[in-house]
Amino acid sequence: MLCQPDTSERACIVRSRKRTLRIRRFVFTIALLTHPLANATFLQAQSSQLPAEQRTDTLLKQMTLEEKIGQLNQAGGQPLLPLPNEMPAEEQVRKGIAGSVLWVSEPADINRFQKIAVEQSRLHIPLLIGLDVIHGYHTIFPPPLAMSATWDPKLVERAQTIAAREARAAGINWTFAPMVDIARDARWGRMVEGAGEDPYLGAIMAKAQVRGFQGAEIGTPGHVLACVKHFAAYGAADGGRDYDSSYVPDDLLWNVYFPPFKAAIYAGVGSLMSAYMDLNDVPATGNYWLLHDVLRETWKFDGFVVSDAFAIGSLVTHGYAREREDAAYRAFRAGVNMDMASYTYLNELPKLLKAGRITESQLDALVRPLLVVKFKLGLFENAYIDESKIAAVLNDPASAQFAREAARKSMVLLKNEGQLLPLDKAGTKYKSIAVIGPVADSGPAQVGFWGGMITGGKDVVTVIEGIKQKVGSAVKVEYAKGPSIRREIPSNFDGMSGVKLHDESAQSPGDAQAAFDEAVAAAKRNDLVVMVLGEGALMAGEAASNASLHLAGRQQELLEAVVATGKPVVLVLINGRPLNISWAAEHVPAILEAWEPGSQGGNAVADILFGDANPGGKLTVTWPRSSGQEPLYYAHNLTHEPETKADFKSRYQDVKSTPLYRFGYGLSYTKFAVSNLQLDKPHAKLGENIGVSVDVQNTGSIAGDEVVQVYVHQQSGSASRPVRQLKGFEKVSLAPGEKKTLHFSLGKDELTYWSPSEKQWVLEPAVFDVWAGDDSTATLRANVEVTK
Ligand code: NOJ
Repeated sequence: MLCQPDTSERACIVRSRKRTLRIRRFVFTIALLTHPLANATFLQAQSSQLPAEQRTDTLLKQMTLEEKIGQLNQAGGQPLLPLPNEMPAEEQVRKGIAGSVLWVSEPADINRFQKIAVEQSRLHIPLLIGLDVIHGYHTIFPPPLAMSATWDPKLVERAQTIAAREARAAGINWTFAPMVDIARDARWGRMVEGAGEDPYLGAIMAKAQVRGFQGAEIGTPGHVLACVKHFAAYGAADGGRDYDSSYVPDDLLWNVYFPPFKAAIYAGVGSLMSAYMDLNDVPATGNYWLLHDVLRETWKFDGFVVSDAFAIGSLVTHGYAREREDAAYRAFRAGVNMDMASYTYLNELPKLLKAGRITESQLDALVRPLLVVKFKLGLFENAYIDESKIAAVLNDPASAQFAREAARKSMVLLKNEGQLLPLDKAGTKYKSIAVIGPVADSGPAQVGFWGGMITGGKDVVTVIEGIKQKVGSAVKVEYAKGPSIRREIPSNFDGMSGVKLHDESAQSPGDAQAAFDEAVAAAKRNDLVVMVLGEGALMAGEAASNASLHLAGRQQELLEAVVATGKPVVLVLINGRPLNISWAAEHVPAILEAWEPGSQGGNAVADILFGDANPGGKLTVTWPRSSGQEPLYYAHNLTHEPETKADFKSRYQDVKSTPLYRFGYGLSYTKFAVSNLQLDKPHAKLGENIGVSVDVQNTGSIAGDEVVQVYVHQQSGSASRPVRQLKGFEKVSLAPGEKKTLHFSLGKDELTYWSPSEKQWVLEPAVFDVWAGDDSTATLRANVEVTK
């Protein structure tokens, strides 16, 4: 340290540090200036020592209007729709008029795109490479609906950490996830992509996923930028028809549909996707109130907004914008930073600038967050990936192991009459098993829509494989597929980019009948039947809404024929949403909801069926008896003829009002008792915390997991409040006989709601009922009076 004798030690250290920093910056700048791609001002922007915002401002000064608009343009890496005058994506990148590319998943292709951007475009700006890594890149986890059934945010976070690590190793730096749309209608095919019907649980799962994808902050090594979507109320599509308009009153937006978005934003999510549909007659992608007033003004979101695919162009299709120039104007004005693949910004913004309808400083404001994020992600330092290192990341055995654990924990045991499960794997009780059904040996069905888009459904342990591995030679296992299933009307996605239904080949009626007869014969030949029924890969997900929730094809008929053989039957469901299994619920002794269990799904199903794991998943959607009950959700309001009345019959006269399986429900191979609900005070002042405690004990003979849930109801107020609302939960693992006391707190956040009559957030004096138990019909009850 070279300091004057009169300088204090601390001042000396500070000065010396500053000097070292200056020298480092100098050396760094010299190194950059001698780089073959050198451009003095740009290189200054490249100095990784400076804050991303400062580097962005320096870079912005270098950019032409065309380059700025280019940053707002996301090019489709493969053309999905024939768009007029679409320039090949490579060409757009070379010309510096694309800031991002999507729908490219192969590492070599990604490196090629980045190379063009960094080495051939004028300003060498790297690309955001976006992809739908929704529940895995190579290691495919169960989809978000299934993961929410674990009620375990730490597990969800860890799964998305693995997804991020794999995706980043392959060159993807931005995922279009988490999808946090609340869904209360199983006819909507995209229910599978979100965390179910409840805003409280949805918000917790949203946060966990953001942390998993992004890490502690944007730019954490081995992580990606997250994108919360689809803002907002896409899950409320009329009649559950995908893309249809949503009509949602303000109080439901604030109380039900917005909370997971707010949670993701407060957790630091870097980007947000605007939805496709009309929200209360204003398309979400041009909705100024939604994207400006709510998102920017109220929540202070400082990341960037990307439209859903083609959605800016679609503002014309909706009959909202006059023509594409008007569409660009409306999206721009609402604050959409990036145009996903519709090229409306690219073609129309120059005209708007020329006409003076938008200004360059407004343009800069939209470009800025996109560049900031590229700096934060470290792309200016290194946009490339080392292709030789990818395999090791993708094939990490710990990831597969964890996918198996996650799948096990997501499964929900719906019925287990006479303790048919777990099965004995030593062959003492059943010497032979027939595994029957169209999705028992289907990789694509197990990994679902987005998993299939990326992997094509390869490298999957199917249910039949999992069962065979589990029992080895102790039990004879025979597989009969039965008639194949197909969806009745194909969508845009059928046949696209290698995604396949699990069985594409059309079956003649004769072949289907032969397969049917063979399956029934197999049931007769064996001691026990495991029927694996449900949905193929593209039967749940985008453009996969159904008017009816029946088991597709001849599955119901086959199930009935197999049950009629008199053999014990276990039904395993592979699907992305509740289906109509009312007949099965009455006639089949054991039913396991396995969802789309991912690449290790077959092993996980076998672990549960044969008792190597104890099921502990709980439903996060209310399971209807028939599609006619939809939308169906537990947190509905009381009517003047409430079901709490002793002589309450039903609100339909042809089906009970109750669901087939309630929200929060799921069985275990052990038993639990929840008891001793206590509130720490009978009266509380507004805003004061109310302590809740409850005991839970494993009263059975094996270890297991239980999810204790706390529900609240405000008895009166400025608006009717839902009959119950989840406001706390905890998942516990308990050894046989073990007992724990759990503590929850009901404070301001839990008791405040947005009142439609007050048009604001309110915390009102009222009596609050509190329930605790193992599902949404919990009966332990206490109440507290909240006063001013
Ligand atoms: C359309 C879907 O709605 C959205 O969820 C997805 O992220 C984009 N396409 C990109 O694939």
